[in-house]
Amino acid sequence: MSKQTSERSAVELPSSVTYRNFPRTRYQGSKYKLLPWLADSFQALTFDTALDVFGGTAAVSYLLKTLGKTVYYNDALAFNAQVGTALIENASVTLDEDDVAFIFTQDPNRTYRSFIEETFSDIYFTDEENHWLDIVVQNIHTMECPYKRAMAFWALFQSAISKRPYNLFHRKNLYVRTSNVKRSFGNKATWDRPFDVHFRKFVREANNAVFDNGRDNKVFCLKDEDLQVRADLVYMDPPYIPEKGALTRYRDFYHFLEGICFYHEWKEHLDRDSKHLKLQSESSNWECKEGIHDAFDMLFEKFEEAIMVVSYRKDGIPSIDWIVERLEKRGKQVEVKEVDYKYVLSKKGNLKEVLIVAAQK
Ligand SMILES: C[S@@+](CC[C@H](N)C(=O)[O-])C[C@H]1O[C@@H](n2cnc3c(N)ncnc32)[C@H](O)[C@@H]1O
Repeated sequence: MSKQTSERSAVELPSSVTYRNFPRTRYQGSKYKLLPWLADSFQALTFDTALDVFGGTAAVSYLLKTLGKTVYYNDALAFNAQVGTALIENASVTLDEDDVAFIFTQDPNRTYRSFIEETFSDIYFTDEENHWLDIVVQNIHTMECPYKRAMAFWALFQSAISKRPYNLFHRKNLYVRTSNVKRSFGNKATWDRPFDVHFRKFVREANNAVFDNGRDNKVFCLKDEDLQVRADLVYMDPPYIPEKGALTRYRDFYHFLEGICFYHEWKEHLDRDSKHLKLQSESSNWECKEGIHDAFDMLFEKFEEAIMVVSYRKDGIPSIDWIVERLEKRGKQVEVKEVDYKYVLSKKGNLKEVLIVAAQK
């Protein structure tokens, strides 16, 4: 494993730079609301570099960045890696009015594809919205600066999630939004708000969240087993398997955003047997009851030398006792902390969110 070094040292951050600047997002398993609680735990530990193996929205990486640490953000999904690039690796680049005008404008000298409009009619968005998406996605892909591009993708992904019933792409259910019925859930006004209005709002939020903590923060887009990064503290918030109830299959739930990241090859990766045209599935030990014990064991072995911090819940497979035992077997001093928490998008009542902190004895 290569030792990552930070060539720049932390700068004194103004008091206005806090995790509160992190834009609110609706993503399954996001730890956004738990950031104050996580902050207390991180502040009690001594470390300089931190790896967020399952970074998701980048909320926890962002917290670590505000604490002045060198942060390595990772997520296996490409759309999430764009989020990490925009808000963690990016230290100063923002989007201005000219950028937004470029993103929204169809270049008359260019030939555009209409893949989304032709493929996803009547599935997630209206035809007019799909047409808008085709133009905007192709314009963003041509932006040269990787940070501007990532900022634009972040704003686009947030806009698309906001306009979706359940904030997911798990069903062909545009009708939920468009049919003339009485609704007991959701926010039709938000779903119907035009893409460009959402987009501008999210650009403002992303711009407001960008800051430099004086460190060379880096983004990786790898499966955990392929990571070759070393850090003093490794934070693990993997996909979670409840004892009862459905799994969160991230690639299946957010496939549409993942497809946008490789727009020109999207067609070849579609699962044509699925009504909602998701991407072809990939198997993962993190999403199967038979494989998850091995997945944890491999992760603990890989990062044995680091302080390991695991976000978990009370009703998960494997049990908390099993996780604690495996960490203790590796010579760790393990502490289990709990807090009551109501999960975004979950129908279950209050559950206990757990933090397992495994430090050197
Ligand atoms: C519980 S979420 C993390 C949420 C994150 N802590 C936050 O606050 O937004 C788990 C994440 O793991 C990612 N993931 C799933 N399998 C992975 C793997 N094998 N390696 C790395 N990331 C993976 C998913 O894309 C998802 O974003």
